[in-house]
Amino acid sequence: MASDDTFKALVVEKNDNELVASLKQLTVADLPDEDVLIQVDYSTLNYKEGLGFANRNKIFRIFPIVPGVDLAGTVVESKSDEFKPGDKVILNGWSVGERYWGGYAQMARIKSDFLIRLPKGMDTKKSMYIGTAGYTAMLMVMTLEEAGITPDSGPILVTGATGGVGGNAVAILDKLGYEVTALTRSQHPSIHEYLKKIGAKEIACGEEWSKPPAPLENQKWAGAVDNVGSIVLARILAEMKYGGCVAACGLAAGYDLPTTVMPFILRGVSLRGVDSVSCPISRRRAAWERLVTDITDGALETINTVISLEEVPHYAKELLAGNITGHIVVDVNA
Ligand SMILES: NC(=O)c1ccc[n+]([C@@H]2O[C@H](COP(=O)([O-])OP(=O)(O)OC[C@H]3O[C@@H](n4cnc5c(N)ncnc54)[C@H](OP(=O)(O)O)[C@@H]3O)[C@@H](O)[C@H]2O)c1
Repeated sequence: MASDDTFKALVVEKNDNELVASLKQLTVADLPDEDVLIQVDYSTLNYKEGLGFANRNKIFRIFPIVPGVDLAGTVVESKSDEFKPGDKVILNGWSVGERYWGGYAQMARIKSDFLIRLPKGMDTKKSMYIGTAGYTAMLMVMTLEEAGITPDSGPILVTGATGGVGGNAVAILDKLGYEVTALTRSQHPSIHEYLKKIGAKEIACGEEWSKPPAPLENQKWAGAVDNVGSIVLARILAEMKYGGCVAACGLAAGYDLPTTVMPFILRGVSLRGVDSVSCPISRRRAAWERLVTDITDGALETINTVISLEEVPHYAKELLAGNITGHIVVDVNA
C-alpha cells in the first residue's frame, strides 16, 4: 500500500463529554507507531464496545480512538522477527480498542507481542465468527476441564446464553459431549429454539433467577459458565452439586456477588475467574488451537450476524439494550 493511499476507519472522538463516532478516510501515516502493519479482514462487536459507545465504564481510554478489541488479517509490513508479510494473524484483547487503536479499520498497526498466528485449519472469517467471545468461551471450558469436570460429571449451566460468549460456550460444550442447560431471561419460543439449535438440551428461564437464593438450594449443576454475575451467579453457587466448579467471566447483570461461604465450605464448590484480555500467550494459543475443532461451523453460522463498519454504532446500542441474539462480526471491507 502506498503511504498516501487511504483506507476506511471508524474513529471515536470526545467533544466536551460527548463521544462522536464517524467513518474517516485515513492513511497509514495516521496509524500509531507499532511494529506490525496489518490489512484487516474482520473484527467483532462485543458487550465491551456496547459500553464504550454508550460512554460507560470508561472503556475508551484515549481519544481519538479506533475501537475494536478483535481483528484478523494479513501482515503487510513487519519490524518484528516473529512475523513477516503474508502471515495471517489474530488479535484479541490486550486493551486494544481501549488503550490502543483496534480493529474497526481496514488497516491497523499492532504490537507484535499482542499477535498470534491464525491456527492451521482456520481462515480469518471463521476466527472472527469466534472472536473474543468464542476464545473466552473456550477459556471457560478449559477452566472447567482443569477443575476435573467431564461430560460424565452432570449438567452444565451456561448463563447469558443468547449472547456472544454464552452462545459459543453452549456450542463448544455440546460439541465436547456435555449436557448443556442454557439460561435466558427470554420466554420467547424463537429464542428457546435458537438455543436448542446451537446445542442446549434444556432451557432455564424461571422467575427464581431474578430473586436472591437461599445459602444452599437443591443441587443441580456439575459445572457452570457465567457471563452475568450478581444474584444470578449467587444462585448458581447455591445450586452447584458437591465438588462442582463455576467459571465466571462477566458482569452483564452487575459486578456484585451477594453470596455466602456455604457452597464453598459445605459442598466444596469452586469459583474460578476467567480473563481473556491479559491471558498469557501460551494459553491463548492453546485455546485457539482447540477452536479449530471444538466448535462446529453450523453452530457458528447460526450464532453470527455480519455487519459493516458503518453499522457498528447502531448495533452497539442494540447490543447493550439486549436486542441482539448471538454474536456480531464486522466485515471492515463491506
Ligand atoms: N473476562 C473476560 O475476559 C471477558 C471476555 C468477554 C466478555 N466478557 C463479559 O462477559 C459478558 C458477556 O459478554 P458478551 O459479549 O457475550 O455480551 P452479550 O452478547 O451482550 O451477552 C450478554 C447476555 O447476558 C444476558 N444478560 C444481559 N443483561 C442481563 C441481566 N441484567 N441479567 C441477566 N442476564 C443478562 C443476556 O441474555 P438474555 O437476554 O438471554 O438473558 C445477554 O445475551 C459481559 O459482561 C462481558 O463484559 C468478559
